[in-house]
Amino acid sequence: MKFIASLDSIAAYTPGTPIEEVLERYGLDQAVKLASNESPLPPFPEVLSVIEERFGDLNRYPDAACRRLRQALAQRYGVSPEMVAVGNGSCELLFWLSMVLLEPGTEAVISDPTFLIYEMVTAGRRATPVKVPLKGFANDLPALAEAVGERTRIVFLTNPHNPTGAYLPAADIREFAAGLPEDCLLVLDEAYNEYVDEEDSQAGMELAAAGGNVFVTRTFSKIYGLCGLRVGYGVGAPEVREAIDKVRQPFNVNTLAQAAALEALGLEQRLLERRRQNLEGRRQLYEGLGSLGISYIETQSNFMLVDVEGLAVPADEVPEALMRQGVIVRPGRPLSCPGYIRVSVGTEDENRMFLEKLSELKG
Ligand SMILES: Cc1ncc(COP(=O)(O)O)c(C=O)c1O
Repeated sequence: MKFIASLDSIAAYTPGTPIEEVLERYGLDQAVKLASNESPLPPFPEVLSVIEERFGDLNRYPDAACRRLRQALAQRYGVSPEMVAVGNGSCELLFWLSMVLLEPGTEAVISDPTFLIYEMVTAGRRATPVKVPLKGFANDLPALAEAVGERTRIVFLTNPHNPTGAYLPAADIREFAAGLPEDCLLVLDEAYNEYVDEEDSQAGMELAAAGGNVFVTRTFSKIYGLCGLRVGYGVGAPEVREAIDKVRQPFNVNTLAQAAALEALGLEQRLLERRRQNLEGRRQLYEGLGSLGISYIETQSNFMLVDVEGLAVPADEVPEALMRQGVIVRPGRPLSCPGYIRVSVGTEDENRMFLEKLSELKG
C-alpha cells in the first residue's frame, strides 16, 4: 500500500484504557475510569427518555442540517443559526476546520503540550504545526502571538487547557484575539467551559458571536455526559460554517445525538447541579491530595495533573500500579507531562478509591 507521506509524522490517538480491558487483564471485579475526562454520571434522565422515544425513527436519515439543535444553540448564544455548526463530537469540527483552512505551506500554531488532535489534523493536511511551550502549565499567549506568521491559518487554543486544566481570563483572550491577522482563525476549544468557576467564562463565546476570526467549539461530551453519542458544536462567522458544510459528510450527526443534545441544552438546572458536583469533587481531590502531601496543579476543569514523583514506585510506573488496583488514570509522559498523572474528577466514591490507592503507593 502506498500511503500518503504525511502519515509518517502522525501518531494515532491513544485513548484511555477501557474498564473491561482492565478488569480482564488484572482479574478484577471492579475498576474506576478516571482517564478520559468523561462525566462519571450518566446522561440526564430526561435525555435518556428522549433517546428512547427516537429509537423507532432510526430507519430515517437524521436531519442533515441539524436545524432544531442549531436553532436552540443560536438562541442560547444570541447568534443566527447560520453561525452554528454541529459535529460528530467537537473533534470532528477540528478535522473539518483543518480541511478548509490548512494545506501544504500553511501553519497552525499550537501549545506544547496540548490536545493531541490539533497536531494530528494539521499533519493530516500536510501543514506545519508550530509548537509553543506552555509557561507554568498555562498557554503562553505572548509567545503564541509571536509564533503567528504570514503562513498561519489557525491558532488552536484550549480553555481550560488540556492536559493541565489551566484557565485563561477574558482580558487575555480578548487581547490575543485582537492581535491576530484577519486571515488567521482562532479556534478556541472550550470542551470544558461548563466546568469553569469564573465569572468571565463566556468571553470566548462573546468574541465568536461577534463574527470575526474567532471560532469557539464546545461539546455535549463532557458535562452533559453524552460522549458515547458524539455531538459537539462550533460558533463563529457564517463563512466558516458554510465552508465546513462543503466538506463534511451530509448526515454527520445521528438522530439520537441531535435529539439528546437538544433536550440536554434545555436542562439548565441539571447542568448547574453537575457543575456543583464537579466542584465538590475537585475540592475532595485537593483536600485528599493535600493531606497526603502530594502536590497537584489547580484546575478549572473536570481533570487535574497530580505530581507523582517521589512515591514508592517511579512516576512512570504509577499509572500501571494504580491500574492493577482498579484505578485507571492517564500517564503524564505521553501527554508531555512526565512526573505527573492526569486524573479525571469522578464521583465521591471514585475519588475516594483513587486517593486510597494512591496513598498505598506512598510507601
Ligand atoms: C480539549 C478537548 N477538545 C475536544 C475534545 C473532544 O470532544 P468531543 O467528544 O466533543 O469530540 C476533548 C476530549 O477529551 C478535549 O479534551
